[in-house]
Amino acid sequence: MKLGEMLCSKQIISDTQLQHALEIQDRQNSREKLGEVLIKLGYATEEEVFSILALQNGIPLSKLRYPLVPEIASLAHDLKNPLSVIQGYLHLITDGILGELSRPQTEIIHHMDQACKVMMRLLEDLMDISVIESGHLELDLQETSLSEYLQDCHLTNQILAQMKSIELVLEIDEDLPVVRMDPDRMDQVLNNLISNAIKFSHPNTTTTISARVVDDEVLISVADQGQGIPEEELSKLFTQFGRTSVRPTSGERSVGLGLAIVKRIVEAHGGRIWVESEVGRGTVFTFTILIESPSTVRSDYDTTKNWNEQVTAKGSCK
Ligand SMILES: Nc1ncnc2c1ncn2[C@@H]1O[C@H](COP(=O)(O)OP(=O)(O)OP(=O)(O)O)[C@@H](O)[C@H]1O
Ligand SMILES: [Mg+2]
Repeated sequence: MKLGEMLCSKQIISDTQLQHALEIQDRQNSREKLGEVLIKLGYATEEEVFSILALQNGIPLSKLRYPLVPEIASLAHDLKNPLSVIQGYLHLITDGILGELSRPQTEIIHHMDQACKVMMRLLEDLMDISVIESGHLELDLQETSLSEYLQDCHLTNQILAQMKSIELVLEIDEDLPVVRMDPDRMDQVLNNLISNAIKFSHPNTTTTISARVVDDEVLISVADQGQGIPEEELSKLFTQFGRTSVRPTSGERSVGLGLAIVKRIVEAHGGRIWVESEVGRGTVFTFTILIESPSTVRSDYDTTKNWNEQVTAKGSCK
């Protein structure tokens, strides 16, 4: 079976998308490979095209994917140590180990400390993505009252929103259940979705965190009134370094790892995540948490397995 047909049969692209890509390829006298055209049009991601090519050529996905994962993890780990030494000394200097600091000195040390924090977060993300992608994501599942948890999360993120003159609203059902989840990992999910909402929105807009029970799941949404994401770029979301043409409104950090981590953590909890967006109006990310503690919520979730399944069952932007 040809690449295009295989992508269609795995429901990664539709017949119409394939026809469109073939027409474009025809117009260019086949200068570009079909896979490249599909990626450029945003119909398929690099990961998807490469995984199908791998299947065609009998290459195991584990070999094809993230060959650098262990190297990245150990490099990130090694870089964290010297960085924390620098941070430690900066804190000692702030505490007066070298005597009293002038105002400009204090400001410079503050900027250096901020830069260290950004680097530290990036290294932690790289370590996270490496651990998650290469095998086991260990969950420390705890019975958690969702309403208390979401109220805390709202308070913590409110300061971040206020700094950008964005109103952060919490709208939750009164009787949200107690669920089994890993609160630290769930922090990563919500903090990322909320920080994205703030980062890609302009001041004087509202971001709403909402939660409601639907059947045996809780649906948690983060809705912003930001720039919105063009439809043809939605397939980039949830992939590593999958940044779109939508850029932060105040020069904030944007590496493109956050949503890839978010998706894996939600799925490790047995949930799903999807996005709805309209350019100029805003974006809503929604994910689910199961209410009953089902067998799907395992503390030793195999992230590799789930990714492989995605190759065969892809929603438009889920
Ligand atoms: N709420 C949103 N509104 C508009 N665009 C968004 C929104 N959330 C994500 N995006 C787009 O999706 C891309 C991927 O998001 P992701 O969270 O993975 O990375 P990031 O925020 O750029 O960097 P990181 O999370 O690693 O700091 C972003 O770069 C942006 O282009
Ligand atoms: Mg992000």
